Amino acid sequence: MLTIGNLHLQSKAILAPMSGVTNLPYRLINREFGCEFAFTEMINIKGLLYNNEKSLKILQTTANDSPLGIQILENSEKFLRPALEQLQDYPFDIIDFNSACPAKKIVNSGGGAALMKDAKKLQRILEIIIKQTDKPVTVKIRTGWDAATRNAFEIAKRAQDAGVRAVFIHGRTRQQHYSGDIDYGTIRKIKNSLDIPVIGSGNIFTPQLAKKMIDETGCDAVLVARGSYGNPWIFSSIENYLNNKTLTHCPGQDDIATVMRKHLDMIIDFYGEFHGPYVYRKIFVFYTKYFINSKPLRKEVFFMTKKTQIVELIEKFRHTAQRHEMYCHLPS
Ligand SMILES: Cc1cc2nc3c(=O)[nH]c(=O)nc-3n(C[C@H](O)[C@H](O)[C@H](O)COP(=O)(O)O)c2cc1C
Repeated sequence: MLTIGNLHLQSKAILAPMSGVTNLPYRLINREFGCEFAFTEMINIKGLLYNNEKSLKILQTTANDSPLGIQILENSEKFLRPALEQLQDYPFDIIDFNSACPAKKIVNSGGGAALMKDAKKLQRILEIIIKQTDKPVTVKIRTGWDAATRNAFEIAKRAQDAGVRAVFIHGRTRQQHYSGDIDYGTIRKIKNSLDIPVIGSGNIFTPQLAKKMIDETGCDAVLVARGSYGNPWIFSSIENYLNNKTLTHCPGQDDIATVMRKHLDMIIDFYGEFHGPYVYRKIFVFYTKYFINSKPLRKEVFFMTKKTQIVELIEKFRHTAQRHEMYCHLPS
């Protein structure tokens, strides 16, 4: 069992925060197939304070979207207090602070991974958040800013001193963004010296890679990010592999098409008939990526603006798709 503050989780696979991806429909679809605990997309605190529509949408949840973690992004101490007050009424279980985002526009203003360059400031921010909320506070970090400054160990220690209840660590530097090798050694070093749970992130694309992360680092759980693209089954597959050492069968295209259709309905309900089809386009790509003859369908979807058109395309996929021989829906 994984315990973060007063939250007790059975599963070792957590849905990672992903901006532009882990909206309410995405979380609910993944929960249906075994995801126990999920994160929202990161929320910009200033957007929240200005009641920005996009920020408020990120926070939308339902009773079956639980337990839930929210993730906040901010580098200015003065905005934190009023924002945390505003967040008090929201039904979430954990509040995570983002010190990992590599995006230029975020780090250029001193937020996200840039805070790893100012360990004292990050510690101060975490202390402010912890003082202000009675929910467990966690932090998401990277291994460092670049290869020359891998300071995740110091940052994680300071975060623990500040009172965070768990550390999520993406095993790459900011410079690596989302590619390159995972630094299992740094995660292991942190796990070995902290008293709170450490959750590893990076290349969790298959049950085998989830096990590798746990074996190499001793971490308490893993964050599933891109590995959930078009594959909500990954949560139960990981759980099954960790417990029984067996791999579950991959879903067939008929099962995939049925889930695609449900996911479409949920996105249209959430974003509306006008905006929904645009949001769904990349979801269509996620589900169909490992089917060799589906490339024309993936091109077509980017011209579609109506739900009815996409429903037809999903049916076309259901009846014509052929899985790439090398892939069992996902690369291993
Ligand atoms: C599209 C996308 C959006 C992301 N958004 C966030 C975010 O909002 N907050 C965060 O902490 N990490 C974010 N991440 C990082 C992931 O949570 C994860 O740490 C990273 O993708 C490494 O895992 P992976 O190699 O298994 O994908 C994002 C990643 C992707 C691909």
